[in-house]
Amino acid sequence: MQRSHARHVASTAALRSLVISVTAAGTVTLAAPAAAKDKSATDPLVATGRWTANEAGNAPVPPMGWNSWNAFFYDIDEEKVMASARILLDTGLADAGYRYVNLDDGWWHHRRQPDGRMVVHTERFPSARTDDPEQTDFRPFTDGLHALGLKAGIYSDIGRNTCGQAYGSDDANLPQGTLEEREVGLFGHIDQDIELYFAEWGFDYVKVDGCGIRAFGADAPRVAAGTYRPLEPLIDMNSVARTDIPAVRSLFTDVSEALHRHSPDQDYVFSVCLWGSSDVRFWGKQVGNVSRTSNDITPDWTRMLTNFDTTVTRALYAQPGSWNDPDMLFVGQGDFDADHMKEARSHFALWAITNAPLLIGYDLREANADQVTLLSNEGLIALNQDEGGHQAVPVFLSEDVQILVKTLSDGDKAVALFNRGFAPVDVVLTADHLKMRDDAPIRLTDLWTGETSEFRDEIEHKVDARETLVFRAEGSRALPDGIYLSEVPGDVNVAEDGVPFPTNDPTIHHGIIPWTGTRGAYELPTYAGWGGAQADRTPFSQPLRIGGIVFDSGLGVLANSRLEVRNEGFERFAANVGIDDSAASAGPVRFEVYGDGSLLASTEAIAFGDSVTPIEADVDGVRVIELVVRAEGTPGLSLPVVWGNARLLR
Ligand code: GLA
Repeated sequence: MQRSHARHVASTAALRSLVISVTAAGTVTLAAPAAAKDKSATDPLVATGRWTANEAGNAPVPPMGWNSWNAFFYDIDEEKVMASARILLDTGLADAGYRYVNLDDGWWHHRRQPDGRMVVHTERFPSARTDDPEQTDFRPFTDGLHALGLKAGIYSDIGRNTCGQAYGSDDANLPQGTLEEREVGLFGHIDQDIELYFAEWGFDYVKVDGCGIRAFGADAPRVAAGTYRPLEPLIDMNSVARTDIPAVRSLFTDVSEALHRHSPDQDYVFSVCLWGSSDVRFWGKQVGNVSRTSNDITPDWTRMLTNFDTTVTRALYAQPGSWNDPDMLFVGQGDFDADHMKEARSHFALWAITNAPLLIGYDLREANADQVTLLSNEGLIALNQDEGGHQAVPVFLSEDVQILVKTLSDGDKAVALFNRGFAPVDVVLTADHLKMRDDAPIRLTDLWTGETSEFRDEIEHKVDARETLVFRAEGSRALPDGIYLSEVPGDVNVAEDGVPFPTNDPTIHHGIIPWTGTRGAYELPTYAGWGGAQADRTPFSQPLRIGGIVFDSGLGVLANSRLEVRNEGFERFAANVGIDDSAASAGPVRFEVYGDGSLLASTEAIAFGDSVTPIEADVDGVRVIELVVRAEGTPGLSLPVVWGNARLLR
């Protein structure tokens, strides 16, 4: 049945009165029914006219720098850190963009009693020493980095105790003193510590880990032995239902508010390290500047795949100010060492094109010229640091080969041809993948070799096993007078993705974890992102399809969702909408388009099997467009809907 065309509605008031109460997606937990109730008090589908992804702090592009963890683990000291800092300068890596020098676990000595002021491990960081051993000062250290034109990062934990105290084995590198003195995490000290780190010590970056609220239950061996105080875990890494999401979120929100209060110029980066747990997919981008989507990376090819998979389909969850973080670079070590430069190049290129933070995790004293050349590849860094902030979107996904395309702010595209498999593959790149015209020339610049080539329609490249070819592509846009929203994911914020209950994403590569080997069954991916909104695919990674018609472009999302879209200068929004052919329930649903909070257009009720419905709206002068899909009644578990060819036009 052909549905009537979208109708324009004059006022929002009439529509708001129709708003039905929808279950708050993502925040419903068994552990915290009270908070779930709070959320349903405000209907998350109500258009607010606001862009709600985090813009506080200083992360308009992904942060770049160096972090001590992958290089030295707990065994850090000032000499090692400053040596790496100087090498950043001497090799030109700092000029290439690597500015942050971040301490990870291991810098602390204890928390002074009774006033709770943190004390630096001055045997390891001698410049923090003062005449009073209980009054240490990190200012000379941060001043030293600032004088070099670099920035300084520090590390903490949201609980009382830390990852090192939960899992580390070398006591010499762990906090020292009485039980209270060894409680070096932020719990109960958020405001005090953030003020000390930012206002007094002058740090510019903080990574906040979560082990303290996951690993110190009464039955944890080190707690049972009396080494640490119990703290009832808020996070269950293997169960979102057993995680107290509102409590976790509230602690991290307290940190972001403290940063706002105490960072002198608001020049800070807040890195949320929850490994994808706690439904952080849903709220991390409102709170932090970068948010980890997976457990720790190791220098293993398969582990790199696992971590990469947690972000590759999440382009719509990263915007300037809030980036997906698949963890730090391991270029230089293990499967990415000097004898494995092909793998190192792939790891680096994939992180660059997906807008991951580029944090070198290598003892730079060991770096050879090829490794420095790789890390300072200007073309690759330019993709990562492009001010548009659009994470690459996968346009071809398989277990063997993936093609990722990223829109750049000058209108060019970047494309990565990534061979995950075991044998060389002839990879065909088409004009369609690039959303470019197939009858006009497309010019490719190889970002590894600088060579240029030209093609029309399609071109084949042999890609070696574990190799990634990366090109910049210049051509004629298939949509000359506008842009598909799936090309500009950095301008789309998934305010409400309609996920009724967060579950693990089964498409994430399951590798062997180095620290457990093949003991147990396997590690569950903790990133509960299954069913999240996707660019050019359904929330479950299938092609977008309404009534048998496939849409190469569009946004795939579940019903009961609201997307915010930033508009700068476009006059018209248009899309072809409907329920996706993969839906397990019939709807019906209504599609609505808002401009700065006012309803501009909506459809009649659309049911499964109905044909494609066009919807259009005049968005001239509108700053924030919102795309809302409401299901009538109970939508069931899976009701994917399609904003087919969703586009902004001049
Ligand atoms: C956790 C984090 C790592 C690192 C260690 C430090 O495992 O995920 O990135 O910070 O803690 O102990």
